[in-house]
Amino acid sequence: MTHRIAIIAGDGIGTEVMPEGLRALDAAAKRFDIDLEYRHFDFGNCDYYLEHGQMLPDDWFDQLKDFDAIFYGAVGWPEKVPDHISLWGSLLQFRRQFDQYINLRPCKLLPGIKSPLADRQPGDIDFYVVRENTEGEYSSIGGRMFEGSEREVVIQETVMTRTGIDRVLKYAFDLAQSRPRKKLTSATKSNGISITMPYWDERVKEMAKRYPEIDVDQFHIDILTANFVMHPDWFDVVVASNLFGDILSDLGPACTGTIGVAPSANINPDGTFPSLFEPVHGSAPDIAGKGIANPIGQIWSGAMMLEHLGYQEAGKAIVDAFEAVLAEGDAKILTPDIRGQGTTESLGKAIAERVAG
Ligand code: NAD
Ligand code: IPM
Ligand code: MN
Repeated sequence: MTHRIAIIAGDGIGTEVMPEGLRALDAAAKRFDIDLEYRHFDFGNCDYYLEHGQMLPDDWFDQLKDFDAIFYGAVGWPEKVPDHISLWGSLLQFRRQFDQYINLRPCKLLPGIKSPLADRQPGDIDFYVVRENTEGEYSSIGGRMFEGSEREVVIQETVMTRTGIDRVLKYAFDLAQSRPRKKLTSATKSNGISITMPYWDERVKEMAKRYPEIDVDQFHIDILTANFVMHPDWFDVVVASNLFGDILSDLGPACTGTIGVAPSANINPDGTFPSLFEPVHGSAPDIAGKGIANPIGQIWSGAMMLEHLGYQEAGKAIVDAFEAVLAEGDAKILTPDIRGQGTTESLGKAIAERVAG
C-alpha cells in the first residue's frame, strides 16, 4: 500500500531540518518495507508570498486533501512577511480547514541532554501536552474600530464550543487511560477569565465522570507554568486550550534542554482529512543558513507520522535511534543547542544510519 505524503518545508531552518526528517523516514521505510511516496510543494513559505501575494494557491485545499499526511517544516520570516499574515495564511488554515483539532506534543527529557532544571534525569520529565488546535483564543472573530484615533478599539473573541472542548478532552482522557500513571492535568485561568475558562473546567468535570480511573488535576495556567519548572515529574497528560497549549509546549521542551527536539502531530482523528506533522519550533531566523539547527524535532515528527499511518515499530525504531545517538553523546555529531559542535546534517546522518539498523 502506497502512502502519499505532502512535503512542505517552509522557511528558514524548516528547509534545513526537512532533508534530515526525510533521511530518517527513508531509512525506516526501507528497513520496514513501507511504501512512502513524497510530493514536494513550493507553497506555504514567505518567498511564495512575495511572488504571489498569498501564502497558498487558491486550490490548496483540493491539492492537499487526498494525501495521507502532510509533513511540514516551519513557516514564518517576519522580515519578509508579518507573522500573522504568513501563519494565518498557511499553517493555521491547515489546522482549521483540515479539522486537525488535536495538537499532540510529547515532552521528554532525552538521554544525554542536560535539563536546565537542576538534577533532572531522563524519566523525570515525560509527558504529553494535548493542545486544542482549532478554536479558543485563536479565533478570527473581532475587529478594529476608530483606527488611528484616540478612541481606537481592538477586539478578538475567544471561541469555545462544547463539541470542540469535549473532543479534545476525550482524546486527552483516552491517552491518559492508556498510560501507566493515568493522570490528567487541565490548564485554565478561571479565576480571571470568567466565562470561557470556567466552562472548560465544567466540561473537564463532566468528562472525568466517564473515566473513574483517571486522577484529574486542574490548575490555573500561571501556577501551572511554575509547576512545570518546579515539579515537571508531576505531569503525565496535560490538556489545554489553544493558546495555553502553545505556551506550555514551548515551556515543557525548554525544561528538557532545547525546543529543537520537540515534535508535534496535528491530528484529524476522524481521518476525514490529512493530519500534519511538524516540529514545535519555528523557522529560527537567528540560526537559519548556518546548518546548525537540531533536526530531532523534525525527525521525531516523522516518527509520529509513521505511527499515525499504522507503523508503530518503524516509529519506535526512529525514536530508539535518536535516543541511542544522544546517549552516545559524541559532541562532534551533536548540534550546538545540545552542547555539540556538529551540524544538522551530521546529527541527521548519524540517526538515519542507526535507523537503517
Ligand atoms: P523559533 O522556534 O523559530 O526560535 C526560538 C529560538 O529557538 C531561537 O533562538 C532559535 O534559534 C531556537 N531554535 C528553534 N528551533 C531550533 C532548532 N531546531 N535547533 C536549535 N535551535 C532552535 O521561534 P521564534 O523566533 O519565535 O519564531 C521565528 C519564526 O518562526 C516566526 O516567523 C514565527 O512566527 C515562526 N514560527 C513558526 C512555527 C511553525 O511553523 N510551527 C512555530 C513557531 C514559530
Ligand atoms: C506553534 C506555533 C504557531 C502557533 C504559530 C507559529 C502560529 O507557535 O505551532 O506552536 O501558535 O500555534
Ligand atoms: Mn508555539
